[in-house]
Amino acid sequence: ARRSYHEKVLDHYNNPRNVGSMGKGSDDVGTGLVGAPACGDVMKIQIKVDPQNDTITDVKFKTFGCGSAIASSSYLTELVKGMTLEQAGRIRNTEIAKELCLPPVKLHCSMLAEDGIKSAISNYYKKNPKAKQTDLGGTGAAMPQIEVEKLPADAPASA
Ligand code: FES
Repeated sequence: ARRSYHEKVLDHYNNPRNVGSMGKGSDDVGTGLVGAPACGDVMKIQIKVDPQNDTITDVKFKTFGCGSAIASSSYLTELVKGMTLEQAGRIRNTEIAKELCLPPVKLHCSMLAEDGIKSAISNYYKKNPKAKQTDLGGTGAAMPQIEVEKLPADAPASA
């Protein structure tokens, strides 16, 4: 059966927020790159962190994936801007799926966004071992971190 996308998905898909790249980034940038084994879609999330208060001051994404994955990452970037790392690390894919009214078959697309932000935070921690670390566990469904080199730096948000 043909599925119609919810208007919120279409809005984020047509006007994705915070598309872009911070390049390799200095120490205050964390990069997360995750892939969904089921469909091969790939998402890159980058966060810029103010080390004074562990707050995300800027965020960019690039997603090679379906409309739901693009919408999930776009919404995620809106959500995390201004959050502390601890708050951002607590975001669950179910919140994203609920906001975007994703159908069950598209839940893994929102999972990509949860894994993407966690991956970005853990990359930031790796670069800043002295930062106050927050526990990123919880889902048990972490997707494999893939090589940053596999994603062209200047690729468009959607393929
Ligand atoms: Fe795989 Fe959406 S179909 S991320």
